Amino acid sequence: MAVPKRQFPDGFYWGAGTSAYQVEGNIYNTDWALAAEEGRVPRAGKSSDHYNYFEEDFDLAKELGHNAHRFSIEWARIEPEEGTFDHKEIEHYREVLKALRKRGLEPYVTLWHFTLPLWFSEKGGFERKDAPEIFARYCSFVMKELGDLFTHVSTMNEPNVYATHGWLYGAWPPFKQWRILGKKIGKEDGTSRRTQSSFLNIFRYFKVSDNLIRAHRQAYFEIKKVSPKAEVSVVKHVHYFYANKNPLNKLLARFMNYQQTTRFMNKVADSCDEIGLNFYRSTQFGDTRTHTYTDMGWKIVPEDIYGALMLLRQYKKPIFIAEAGLADANDVHRAEYIRVQVSSVWRAIQEGVDVRGHMYWSLLDNYEWALGYEKRFGLVEIDYQTLKRTPRPSAQVYQKICVENAVE
Ligand code: BGC
Repeated sequence: MAVPKRQFPDGFYWGAGTSAYQVEGNIYNTDWALAAEEGRVPRAGKSSDHYNYFEEDFDLAKELGHNAHRFSIEWARIEPEEGTFDHKEIEHYREVLKALRKRGLEPYVTLWHFTLPLWFSEKGGFERKDAPEIFARYCSFVMKELGDLFTHVSTMNEPNVYATHGWLYGAWPPFKQWRILGKKIGKEDGTSRRTQSSFLNIFRYFKVSDNLIRAHRQAYFEIKKVSPKAEVSVVKHVHYFYANKNPLNKLLARFMNYQQTTRFMNKVADSCDEIGLNFYRSTQFGDTRTHTYTDMGWKIVPEDIYGALMLLRQYKKPIFIAEAGLADANDVHRAEYIRVQVSSVWRAIQEGVDVRGHMYWSLLDNYEWALGYEKRFGLVEIDYQTLKRTPRPSAQVYQKICVENAVE
């Protein structure tokens, strides 16, 4: 018997995402590039050279049935020295935006995705009290120069992940690690990265978290001054927690959702016109099921995006899935993962959650931060020797969903 199609609302946005440092290549004036020079993280090098191949890549996205695309602007390209803006790079991103528009791909722009211009990280980055002003000045500049070409704009990607990896785990720049009673926190191995371990880093972590909230809020108001019609968002990583019937586990799940998601969202939701959701992981306390795992070692639980959406529903804002995907070099799990995940988004929509778009992570294989190039998230495989792009079979499965605006 044929399975009935689950239809999405008209005008739903389907696409995939990338971020500048992960795909563009040849970015050398950031904190990550410096860390690579120092041997603390792998080099990003020329990556997939998306900076030069963006037209071809957008052709592929179009052929794969997408009608939207999320990407980020590299702050260090735009503002290579404090207060000095590079108009040539603005021109580059203008071309990128025009190339998207020409192909009918709605741009979802992220202004900052993890990497900092060197001048900013060297003077303390988001630990600085005046970081919100510095960040908002950059956001305002981009909107003045490029804001005529897009509506959807996210100030920042996953601020909480950024702060935990940089100031608690010590896995990412600036490699500060929280040690409590001599024990390091988190499972990321920071030892090879020459971390600065200290009990005091917890205070720096809270300071950074707070500055990120202030930075988003300030950027929001500056962006709205320049582009009142912009739909401004923050992109939030939601690790969704739930529990078996045990009341203690239920309490624990509530606490963890508060700790990791709602505590932050409560402080920024009133300065968001929409919310971007990044979903990869969930934890069920009291879980007795057996699971399969992605190449990242993450449980394959695409259906749990439903819970993450239900958690964000309380903010009564339109939501778009800014990232959701998996590392799967052999493409054995991806197609089913996408199908189940998209079905779960559909289910949330049926229950009244205002979801407007779905951006698979990622369009292309890319630089997976401290793990380098080994992990393969792409709908499109990259051969890093030849830069040849090859859509994976799962990309066709997603294409059908995009084109039909429905999932079986
Ligand atoms: C980040 C991406 C990253 C992905 C997979 C998200 O946390 O925004 O940059 O590649 O997860 O780990």
